[in-house]
Amino acid sequence: MRTRLLLAAVVVTLVAAACLRIPATRAGLSFGYAVDPAALADDAAYAGAVAADAGVVTPENHMKWSLVHPAPGTYDFAAADSIVASAAAQGQHVRGHVLVWHRQLPAWLTEREWTRAELVDVLRDHVHTVVGHFRDEFPGVVRQWDVVNEAFHADGTRRSTIWQDVIGDDYLELAFRFAHEADPDAQLFYNDFYDHGLVAAEAALEGLPSGVGATAGRSSCDDVPKCTATRSLVEGLVARDVPIHGVGFQGHVLGTAPADYRELASWVEPLGLSWAVTELDVALLTAQGSDPVALDAQADAYESIVTDCLESDACDTVVVWGVDDAHSWIPGTTGGLLGHATLRDAQGVPKPAYVRLLGLLAADDLEQGPTAGSSVGDTFG
Ligand code: XIL
Repeated sequence: MRTRLLLAAVVVTLVAAACLRIPATRAGLSFGYAVDPAALADDAAYAGAVAADAGVVTPENHMKWSLVHPAPGTYDFAAADSIVASAAAQGQHVRGHVLVWHRQLPAWLTEREWTRAELVDVLRDHVHTVVGHFRDEFPGVVRQWDVVNEAFHADGTRRSTIWQDVIGDDYLELAFRFAHEADPDAQLFYNDFYDHGLVAAEAALEGLPSGVGATAGRSSCDDVPKCTATRSLVEGLVARDVPIHGVGFQGHVLGTAPADYRELASWVEPLGLSWAVTELDVALLTAQGSDPVALDAQADAYESIVTDCLESDACDTVVVWGVDDAHSWIPGTTGGLLGHATLRDAQGVPKPAYVRLLGLLAADDLEQGPTAGSSVGDTFG
């Protein structure tokens, strides 16, 4: 009987040790995934992976305007609530995503003319209602919000959006102030992408210079126009006492050697803010799904970015954009050219990148010793 109990204990320990949540937590990292509510409810393997690995989750789509605010004055929180309730039940916290963006907006918002005053009222109502809902219904669970997403073009100019064009430059500041009014305890982030591949793809569509994103050879914020624009913006917000607490570096890596994120984000900590890797994925060519060399290079890229976060005193969060390759946005957004971007294959089996992160986090845990387990959380939390 004792042998059996011992064996059961060993099995439980091995299973827990072979997942990411415990070693990540011990290494002082909030690690997690962007999640989909239907998959969480219907797919036991998917839900099991989220339970085993994630200390934080981000709703991939279900807090966006078109889903939570489908008609004027009508809010629908059912799907987002199911994600937040499941996270709360498992002691995970949630990154709220996203309050102000130019995509996934409902037609009622984009298909009519607004005056500045009207649109500021709509924005205030939306931010107060959405942030207030989660503060009231799930106190303390949605700890961070991506307040504004992707405000700049590749060349560092302000992106032309309904918010920018109708309200003007100060829409950003207004959004942060509204979010802080609705939940004074939430950590408020500006979020954007800087990786060479995605910046180049978008720049090409917009007729802008394309070789301007961050790569392994170009990691200084000074050399990445979008990053210098973000830095100026955030410096201005801090100088004017606008409630901002962090900067999200999305981290969508499209098949190129990733930048040194610690260097790219080195300006954030001196401002008294934190930074996070909010949407990490590393895309391969579709044909490379079982190519060991490509999978190893992918593991290198994941390891490099997670190491950058672990080594920075101002970073404590890494969220991977999708639980497995069957639930990744990359094939859809690249017309099938790229894929295999997450840590598990389409059957949910952990890939070399997963095993690499497991080794990295376990080693970091051993190095830091048993008292480690909180770093930025204490300073910035
Ligand atoms: C993506 C989702 O993953 C897709 O399912 C959806 O069709 C489009 O949006 N930057 C962001 C995320 O901030 O919200 C985007 O998510 C990916 C790029």
